[in-house]
Amino acid sequence: MKFGHFDDAAREYVITNPRTPYPWINYLGNDDFFGLISHTAGGYAFCKDARFRRLTRYRYNNVPWDDGGRYFYIQDGDCVWSPGWKPVRTELDEYRCRHGMSYTIIRGVKNGIEAEALFFVPLGTWAEVHQLTLTNRSQVARAVRVFSLVEWCLWNAHDDLNNLQRNLSIGEVEIDGSAIYHKTEYRERRNHYAFYAVNAPLAGFDTDRDAFLGPYNGFDSPAAVMEGTPRNSEAHGWSPIASHCVALHLQPGEAKTLVFLLGYVENADDQKWDRPGVIHKANARALIERFATPASVAAAFQELRSFWDGLLSRYVLDSGDARLDRMVNVWNQYQCMVTFNLSRSASYFETGIGRGVGFRDSNQDVIGFVHQVPARARQRILELAATQLPDGSAYHQYQPLTKRGNSDIGGDFNDDPLWLIFSTAAYIKETGDFSILDEQVPFDNDERAARPHFEHLKRAFSHTVDNLGPHGLPLIGRADWNDCLNLNCFSTDPNESFQTTSNRAGRTAESVMIAGQFVLYGREFVELCRRSGREQEALEAQRHVDAMVASVLEHGWDGEWFLRAYDFFGNKVGSKENEEGRIFIESQGFCAMAGIGLGEGKVEQALDSVNRWLDSDVGLVLHQPAFTRYRLEYGEISSYPPGYKENAGVFCHNNPWIMIGETVLGRGDRAFEYYRKIAPAYLEDRSDVHRLEPYVYAQMVAGRDAARPGEAKNSWLTGTAAWNYYAITQFILGIRPGYDALEVNPCIPRTWNGFTVTRIFRGVTYHIEVRNPRHVSKGIRRVSLDGDPMSGNTIPMLDPGSEHRVMVELG
Ligand code: BGC
Ligand code: NOJ
Repeated sequence: MKFGHFDDAAREYVITNPRTPYPWINYLGNDDFFGLISHTAGGYAFCKDARFRRLTRYRYNNVPWDDGGRYFYIQDGDCVWSPGWKPVRTELDEYRCRHGMSYTIIRGVKNGIEAEALFFVPLGTWAEVHQLTLTNRSQVARAVRVFSLVEWCLWNAHDDLNNLQRNLSIGEVEIDGSAIYHKTEYRERRNHYAFYAVNAPLAGFDTDRDAFLGPYNGFDSPAAVMEGTPRNSEAHGWSPIASHCVALHLQPGEAKTLVFLLGYVENADDQKWDRPGVIHKANARALIERFATPASVAAAFQELRSFWDGLLSRYVLDSGDARLDRMVNVWNQYQCMVTFNLSRSASYFETGIGRGVGFRDSNQDVIGFVHQVPARARQRILELAATQLPDGSAYHQYQPLTKRGNSDIGGDFNDDPLWLIFSTAAYIKETGDFSILDEQVPFDNDERAARPHFEHLKRAFSHTVDNLGPHGLPLIGRADWNDCLNLNCFSTDPNESFQTTSNRAGRTAESVMIAGQFVLYGREFVELCRRSGREQEALEAQRHVDAMVASVLEHGWDGEWFLRAYDFFGNKVGSKENEEGRIFIESQGFCAMAGIGLGEGKVEQALDSVNRWLDSDVGLVLHQPAFTRYRLEYGEISSYPPGYKENAGVFCHNNPWIMIGETVLGRGDRAFEYYRKIAPAYLEDRSDVHRLEPYVYAQMVAGRDAARPGEAKNSWLTGTAAWNYYAITQFILGIRPGYDALEVNPCIPRTWNGFTVTRIFRGVTYHIEVRNPRHVSKGIRRVSLDGDPMSGNTIPMLDPGSEHRVMVELG
């Protein structure tokens, strides 16, 4: 069952039934100012940090779900309705929500009045535009009242929910014409405020929630709206809101547009006040002025659209399969940008108060994003490196506001440092910019300890070498990529977090996944040494990589697949000897991508075992058999019911590791089958089962051991976005940036006749046509550049600004 459809030309998902199985959301904003907006206009806004600078309040885990957002109420005599159906839920004559690239348009029609609201954050602006157009589609003149509503969050989203004994006394607002200012705590330690304004005179307003709603009403039936009478309330403490009331008269066929602006302003300490108690509003007024007319909104909106046209022009696929094209050309890239921007902080599953920016998460996000805005990727890589500790290890997370490592969360996730090599290599391959290696970067944010970025990579590499266990395999530490395989944790107290509680000291538990990762990214490190003239370091690093390959072959192979780990007691994890958790996906993925044992058929055997044991209709599950009881020596992984999350769910993040592994073997049919099974556009028809947005990946889809296999959770902010993009574009379609050239080496289903890709790489536009007349998966028969035959499949760098035709025939 579907709840809408893709509009590919507009790059929108169009929701036509508001009763989706879960709120289907979109993101507004690309820099500092962000909004989450659901298809019924629920959600919230924040500037820079979802925890510390939350503008509007949102209640997670609320009943009904997704109550609270940017609401409009239209009071038309006795009929009160909302263009987004919620919160009033008056049945609409027509409803439609278009989620596009950083904007959302919600349109409702009731009794001949059409209301269309456009929501977006203009580029480089700390504000959301909410442009509402009302059109009288009836034959008679109409008079309606429009009420707006946002509820202010008292800035710190965590305290806002908790510290009520203080919070209910601190709320402060100012009303200035058609602008409502939120200035809680501005009188003392804050230098920022928010405002919600409209470009029309008011028939009234409200700033006190209880006055507006009436003490026993919900958002669905505010007393002020139901009676058509704003209270002109001024909030003093309790819960400040901003609600405008605008009276509109519409002749038949007439349309009127209101521009609302929800903005955020920071003032310098000596410019906080106009006069005692009255905030200095010049910056806000300038913003309000800038977006005072529909024409200025249209211009800003056009700018946003052109921005996305540019971003999405760098890899354009024409495969003949609309679902694949829309994933590759639009939605997967869009999700990559969102995950890059927000890491794992704010979604409808992440509350914005839990996690900062993850070290491993963000390094991986770079892979899917680097071709879009390489300069931002560079900056992120250096920010991450600046939180690295002098011994090469990493804080697991840093705070976006301070950009400092978070010591509450700590470190010792021993996969973390290696991802820095991966992201740096990807950045250099995309840009050719080796200068990043020479950038001076602090350790632990201490400028005095700044060293060239190369040194950070070297210490990341050495961190693994310095932390090997009894089998010569990397110690796992607190956990590796799988945060829930907690082999040193031994937690018996439900009140402690598996993620942060103190672990037993031990140097036994080893990870075969990190071993594969070390081989893969260790080779990148060797290459970077070579290319930056460090031959000696390259040779030495290569020796460590070779030794790791040997250790994996000797101690990491279980007969038919790669082991997952050795536990605290030195017992095998992910072995046929185990009762549960006999085979895990992560070590198969990483050892296959690294080609460990490729010549001896081990990669093939391992991936065949994956296919045999882990495959299902809804994707590859993380391991099998699922854990049916809590195992103290394994930790959080066994705390989940079978089939969910890390306990044998389909963890979409690691499926592409197997896809890429399959391309190492040249098995394009399987690689693509795995791709298709979890790519959201292919699941659209099953939206009732899948439940989440058909345009973005979710972190997890319930596995075959679960009660409802195929049911997704945790959409949007997941490394799944970057990894699937990486797998499909660089390994299946096979157009891959190298250090000094673009390589073309597809691995596709044999049935495909071919495809074309336009790729802008280092300023050169390549129109690449791949033909598959012999119906193979992999292998290059001939290549031509602008009609001239070429040897090999690496396309040399040509003049920036030029355009070229590349023809690749497989066979
Ligand atoms: C989740 C993991 C996540 C970790 C850290 C665990 O509860 O299962 O997926 O990585 O928390 O936030
Ligand atoms: C989600 C976390 O964000 C990521 O860092 C981790 O690797 C996976 N869960 C697997 O546990």
